[in-house]
Amino acid sequence: MRPYRLVQRISPDELNKRLDELAEEINRDYEGKSLVLIGILKGAFVFLADLARRLASPVEIDFVRLSSYGNKSETSGSVRITKDLELQVKGRHILIVEDIVDTGITLNWYLDRLQASEPASVKICALIDKIERRKVEVPIDYVGLHLTEGFLVGYGLDYSERHRNLPGIYEVEFEEQGGHCVS
Ligand code: PRP
Repeated sequence: MRPYRLVQRISPDELNKRLDELAEEINRDYEGKSLVLIGILKGAFVFLADLARRLASPVEIDFVRLSSYGNKSETSGSVRITKDLELQVKGRHILIVEDIVDTGITLNWYLDRLQASEPASVKICALIDKIERRKVEVPIDYVGLHLTEGFLVGYGLDYSERHRNLPGIYEVEFEEQGGHCVS
């Protein structure tokens, strides 16, 4: 693995503040309704846990694991499900919780598939929107942060499965030589 260091982009305090704001908006929109949160594994597990604890509506929680074949610049046909929902979603209000939307290929594909289960409504909440990198359109209803640059880790996001447990969001900066890893 190339040497790299981590540079903090978003602190835990900043994340907490933004989550409070997001939850307030979601609580307002879903007042009087119950909802099903669907977390997209693995990256969304931290965000979902923190968001869910701020929600006022009755919530049920489920997860799916989506896997892209090869290069993410491929078409939407390259996505598959390796762990599917266990809850029934027909007639339910669904909030998909995602850590990051990049090309949009993963969520675009999953939205189509989810519609076949006839939910009452589907909205998307993404912690990080990298809209400049979008290849296919995805309607994101709640965006935590717009971040354009960099390879990000922490708060669920990984680099080769590392750093998901960091409490803030960091950028991976690769070093030419003699670097070290901060975790
Ligand atoms: C990330 C992220 C999204 C997807 C977004 O998952 O959690 O699911 O990539 O990319 P896209 O918009 O270009 O389709 P990843 O494949 O890294 O898996 P992980 O969540 O298990 O780390």
